[in-house]
Parts: sequence; C-alpha cells; structure tokens
Amino acid sequence: MPVTGVVGAQWGDEGKAKVIDLLAAEHTHVVRYQGGHNAGHTVVVGTERYALQLVPSGVLYPHIIPVIGNGVVVDLPTWFKEIDTLESRDISCAKLKVSSQCHLIFPWHQALDALYEQGRGDDRIGTTLKGIGPAYADKARRVGLRAAEVLNATAFKNAVRVQAVAHNSEIVALGGEPLDVEAVVAQFAELGARLAPYVVDTVEMLHESLDRDDALLLEGAQATFLDLDHGTYPFVTSSNPTAGGACVGTGIGPRYLGRIVGITKAYTTRVGSGPFPTELTDALGDKLVEIGREFGTVTGRRRRCGWLDVVMLRKAVRINSFTELALTKLDVLDTFDEVKVCTEYDIDGQPVYAVLPGWLTDISKVTTLEGLPQNAKALVDLVEREVGVPIRIVGTGPERDSYVNWS
Ligand code: GDP
Ligand code: IMO
Ligand code: MG
Repeated sequence: MPVTGVVGAQWGDEGKAKVIDLLAAEHTHVVRYQGGHNAGHTVVVGTERYALQLVPSGVLYPHIIPVIGNGVVVDLPTWFKEIDTLESRDISCAKLKVSSQCHLIFPWHQALDALYEQGRGDDRIGTTLKGIGPAYADKARRVGLRAAEVLNATAFKNAVRVQAVAHNSEIVALGGEPLDVEAVVAQFAELGARLAPYVVDTVEMLHESLDRDDALLLEGAQATFLDLDHGTYPFVTSSNPTAGGACVGTGIGPRYLGRIVGITKAYTTRVGSGPFPTELTDALGDKLVEIGREFGTVTGRRRRCGWLDVVMLRKAVRINSFTELALTKLDVLDTFDEVKVCTEYDIDGQPVYAVLPGWLTDISKVTTLEGLPQNAKALVDLVEREVGVPIRIVGTGPERDSYVNWS
C-alpha cells in the first residue's frame, strides 16, 4: 500500500484539512509531518465545525490513529487544550501518538518571535507569533528540548530551567520582559508529566505499520510557497511543508510515497507579508474575502486574496512531484461575472490572465460532475490542462460531502 501525502500548493489554508478528512476514510493513520500550532485546519461535518492546530485532521474517525511526526514542533498548552475540547465534543483522542523526537515550544520562543518581528519593523514577516521560527532555530542550533526528555522528570525540569535562564538573557537584551523562570519550570513539569504517556518512537511504529500494509496518510501544514527552502524567502515559515519534508518529518523514505495530492483553491490567498503577483487590492479582492470567509483560523487575520496563479502551481508540481490536485472553494466564485487565471508572466514580470465567463449559479449543493455548470467545468479543465496533472477532487462547499469527483 503506497503512502499518501497531502501538501498545500499555494500559501496555506487551501482546504488541506477537508481533503485529509475525506481521504482519511480509506486510510489507517494520519501523520502530521511539520509545522506546529501556526496551522489552522478546519473540518466541517454537518453542523459541527472543528478547528485543529496540532491534532491530525483524521481524528474525527474512530478507526484512525492520529500521529504527530518527528518534524512537528509541539506547543503543549495548545495541544492539551485541543485534546480537551475534542474530548468534550465526544471525539476520542485516546489513540494519539507523539514522536519522541518532536521538539517542544516554550514561552521564550513566543516572546522571541514577537521581539524578532518588532525588530524587523516594516520588513516584518507577519508570523503567527506562535514561536515556530525560534523553536526550529533552537532545533537547528542543537539546543532544543525534545518530547523524549519528559520521560525523565527531574532531568527535564533542570533542562527547562537552564533553557529559560539562557533565553531570558536574549529576551532582556532585545528589550523584552524576562520570564518567571520557576513559574515556567513548574508549568512544564506538569505539562511534561501529561505528555509522557503519548510519547513513542513513531518512526519505528510507522515502519511496523508499513510492514503490515497499513494505509498511511501524511498531513502537511502550511504550503509549498511558505517552505523555508522553496517559498518566497524570507516571507516563509521555518519548516519544509513540501513533499520531501513529509519524508524527513516522519522517517518514511521517499520510495514509499505513491500518491502526492496538491491542494489549491480556485483562487489564491496569503496571510502575512510577502510577494503576491495576482493579488486583488480592489472590490473584487474584498468580495473574495467576504464570500470565501478569508479570515485566519488561528489569528483571525484577514487573508489577502487574488486570482489563481497556475505558474505557481506548475512550480509546485515540480517541487512536490504531485500525482494529482484537489481544487477547492470553486463555489466561492459562483457570483463572479468573469474569472481570471494567471497562465504566464510578461517580460516585466506582470501576470498575464486567461479570462473565463462566470457561471453565475449556486454550485454549493452540486456533488456530481454532470451537476456542474459548463463554465465551471471549463475553468477546471483549463487549470488541469495548464498545470498538467489530473484534478481528482473539486470542492463545492466547506462540508465533508461538498465535493465532486472530477476524474
Ligand atoms: P487548511 O489550513 O488548508 O486546512 O485550510 P483552512 O481550514 O485553514 O481554510 C480553508 C477554509 O475553507 C475552511 O474554513 C474550510 O471549511 C473551507 N473550505 C474547504 N473547502 C471548501 C470548499 O470547497 N468550499 C468552501 N466554500 N469552503 C471550503
Ligand atoms: P495552514 O496549515 C497560512 C504564515 C504566516 C506568516 C508565515 C510565517 O493552516 O495552511 P510562522 O508563524 O509560521 O513563522 O509564520 O507563514 N503561515 C500560514 N499561512 N496558513 C498556515 O497554515 C500558516 N502557517 C504559517 O502568516 O506569513
Ligand atoms: Mg489553515
């Protein structure tokens, strides 16, 4: 059974969680492979809406084993709050596993994230301020604390104290308020004890599953153009959301990856700073924000909106080896007289658009290919042709069942 990967093809919030929830029905595990609680993954089932940050998006199915892979940075207060909220809504988190190799996020990472952003002034990245960058920086500097360390409570407490003192010096040097070291040590002693039963060698566990021919689904957070290497640096996140990151962040070699699903909206959005050639800063942009409800799940920030850019998607196909695409939120374009798709850039780097007539029909209840208006089909056809990989799923609404099997 080949492993399936799901990767954002744009700048995030493409609807990855909805597609993961859909695909989870035919998988055994959903494994997050990078990022942290900067992610906001929304799954809608009937009238219930679940906003997930760290818990894998397959958690709603009782048969799924949700796994937090080694590439993820874990913020314990957020994670436990999420578990408690899910449990209070009768979603069991009993099968959750966390890699012993995961790095933990601490309050000093958040403090530093804010101070670094302040220091950048007008050049700020617009991070989620969750401490993601500083936590990955500590991982790269080889001073981070990993999940396995909570298994020795005394050593963990001491390590937290040493780290808190060291990071306080930097916080103070940057003009910030030092953290109360003993309060943080006490808080994390408690959180560490709660984490301990979830910690396993997930690399070993996942390989045992592969040997049993289980069906693994690897869940990406963020997206291709927020990738630390391949994104619009420096306006990126600090991990590798691209398909290669799925291997590194789970310990599963590339030979296993058989199906790699790229997720793209039928238009484009971006939160935070950085280039966005097809951005609409006029009333059409506002209309996309309003109809697409383009406000961040995590930070509530308004997302910047613009037309779909297939030049970007072609690049994403190359970087990720996408075997297929899911095109989400087609219904958001229902009331547009015309729809544009950037198919190339001119010599000055300006986007060149194909202009298609709108369909001016409510497609939010459509679940069959035949049910889609001709002009909507023409748009999907154009994207498929321009990008050069098959589109399998077309999203027609936020709900689990609101989609069309395209091919
Ligand atoms: P993710 O971060 O990629 O998982 O995406 P988010 O959950 O942050 O944002 C996607 C938003 O679009 C969520 O509110 C979803 O419920 C919603 N959504 C997903 N697919 C569709 C779709 O096909 N149509 C509409 N209208 N909304 C969708
Ligand atoms: P999901 O998984 C959209 C953006 C931030 C900022 C940049 C760096 O829901 O698609 P960070 O806090 O990671 O250091 O911020 O990345 N960003 C996201 N944008 N969706 C996300 O996640 C994002 N996670 C981070 O807005 O521009
Ligand atoms: Mg999101």
